[in-house]
Amino acid sequence: MCGIVGYVGKNESSTDFVINGLKALEYRGYDSAGLATIDKGKLKYLKDVGRVANLDKLIKNNGDNALKEIGSAKISCGIGHTRWATHGSVTKPNAHPHTNSASDIFVVCNGIIENYQEIREKLVSEGYKFKSETDTEVIPHLIDFYMKSKKADFYPAFKTAISDLRGAYAVAAVYADNPETIYVARLSSPIVIGVGDQEHFIASDPSALIHKTKKVIFLNDYEVAQITAKEAKIESLDGAKAAAQQVVELDYEAEESEMGKYPHFMLKEIHEAPATIQSAIRGRVKPAINTIKLGGLESVKQQLGLIDRIIITACGTSYYAGLIGEYLIEEIAGVPVEVQLSSEFKYRNEPLSRGTAVIAISQSGETADTIAAIKKVEDYGILKLGIVNAVGSTLARITDAGVYCHAGPEQSVASTKAFIAQVTILTEIALHLSNGKSKLYSPLLKELVDLPSKAEETLKLESDIKKLAQKYAKARDFLFIGRNYLYPCALEGALKLKEISYIHAEGCSAGEMKHGPLAMIDENFPTIALACNGPLLEKTMSNIEEIKARKGPIIAISTEGNEKIKTLADDVIYVPKTVEQLQPLLVTIVMQLFAYFVAVEKGLNVDRPRNLAKSVTVE
Ligand code: G6P
Repeated sequence: MCGIVGYVGKNESSTDFVINGLKALEYRGYDSAGLATIDKGKLKYLKDVGRVANLDKLIKNNGDNALKEIGSAKISCGIGHTRWATHGSVTKPNAHPHTNSASDIFVVCNGIIENYQEIREKLVSEGYKFKSETDTEVIPHLIDFYMKSKKADFYPAFKTAISDLRGAYAVAAVYADNPETIYVARLSSPIVIGVGDQEHFIASDPSALIHKTKKVIFLNDYEVAQITAKEAKIESLDGAKAAAQQVVELDYEAEESEMGKYPHFMLKEIHEAPATIQSAIRGRVKPAINTIKLGGLESVKQQLGLIDRIIITACGTSYYAGLIGEYLIEEIAGVPVEVQLSSEFKYRNEPLSRGTAVIAISQSGETADTIAAIKKVEDYGILKLGIVNAVGSTLARITDAGVYCHAGPEQSVASTKAFIAQVTILTEIALHLSNGKSKLYSPLLKELVDLPSKAEETLKLESDIKKLAQKYAKARDFLFIGRNYLYPCALEGALKLKEISYIHAEGCSAGEMKHGPLAMIDENFPTIALACNGPLLEKTMSNIEEIKARKGPIIAISTEGNEKIKTLADDVIYVPKTVEQLQPLLVTIVMQLFAYFVAVEKGLNVDRPRNLAKSVTVE
């Protein structure tokens, strides 16, 4: 969704940083872009619908359309924004930055200002004129209003204006008369400050500034900051102590945010599955001493020992990882688990006993619904855990403890390696909770260590999967079926195909076929049947027979050695043998590659599917 970047310093041009930063955030999905920078004493203010590249072109062709010369500015300073329309359609006036009538205050904002109508009406009655339909535009006018009515300087007026806002937002502002400062504020929407040498960067997502610095400060809710080249002065608006400007080191390299030799981020990220499993088990899974060690859960060891129920909450792909987690934790640890979509959980009135722990799963750690779900139980006195990829993200900070995915940045909107990491970690949590008592404990510890090489083997099936994708790319519908661990896996397979190929796809428990979905089957309706070795294989094979009898084309994903399936299925992809509990990890790689190649075959924008965003920071 929307992205924010900014620069203040003298080591480079803020315009260059802002443009490159916005390009680094393109993967999040957006429809328009804009910037306000003070470069070499000239204020540039530009915005337009479409790509950041258009903006770049406009600046190059039209670089001197400064609104104002800022004689005193020795420092380059500026902010930029990519917009994903919420309030108001995709138009140039609705793009950010927004400004006041004197065009000396420029504001970009991510999130939603819930009380903007109220503020807007008040400002209109004071004679303020609005040019856009957005909620953000109230902010520059409100700052202007407080500067005039209270005869205040910019920063006190900025803080008063921010205190008036309700909703979830990250705001960045510049003021032409203070040309060497960026002002930021945060409530439930991320903003990170990068610390350089006599320079500071800001971004809504660290991947926009990782090329410049790994030292960052994550702003907390209700905090505001005045940022100059020399320092970032942070204070809290709710009377709490500001986060002591804690500088943390990001744990990934800039190259990890780049595509390298791959044509798309999605393909690169699918290929990172073996390394992702490796990072998720490194230092944690120790079969030699028959132990699993999850350092992130050490601090809540005692509370964990008392839980008798787990609720997993998540959205999208993370939700499907959670469903696999339900099977894992119940079978391995014997703890009852319920998985709830965050958008449902946060509004549901259900009894939650003290013995319940809530686990939030999120790649970005910034999904608004999942944050709201955790906030709902904030005062319940129950344990809140996170399985999060983005270090320092909101969910990582508002949960009591958790296990990081360490999958590195994921840029493709369709989540792939994050899912692999989440399922691996859920397996680890299940083992951890079992206290070594499960009969699966030792076999799973051993198998986890072998899994990266099996994932590598699975990736070698790429050219076969590509051929299959080309063969079936014209289908209008797909059914994905599986049982037990492979049932949630089928749901994820269908989601992946829908997201990037826009083909209608449904996931279904193989056992439920005859209660409805079977009615859809004919020679034009292919089924992807997940039929790996396990106690329910025979039953899945019977379901495949039922589809075959109705002339439905069948693509089976099965375990090496299952010869019988060849007689039933039109096409078969064999994955390496592994234990039933870990099959989803290998089978998912095949389904991810299949969805990828179908989308490529259809000539679609694989990494940025229409209407979707990587990090959904609004409800
Ligand atoms: C969006 C993304 C999905 C992702 C979901 C949850 O819908 O497009 O790929 O699975 O959000 O995101 P999270 O960051 O919380 O895992």
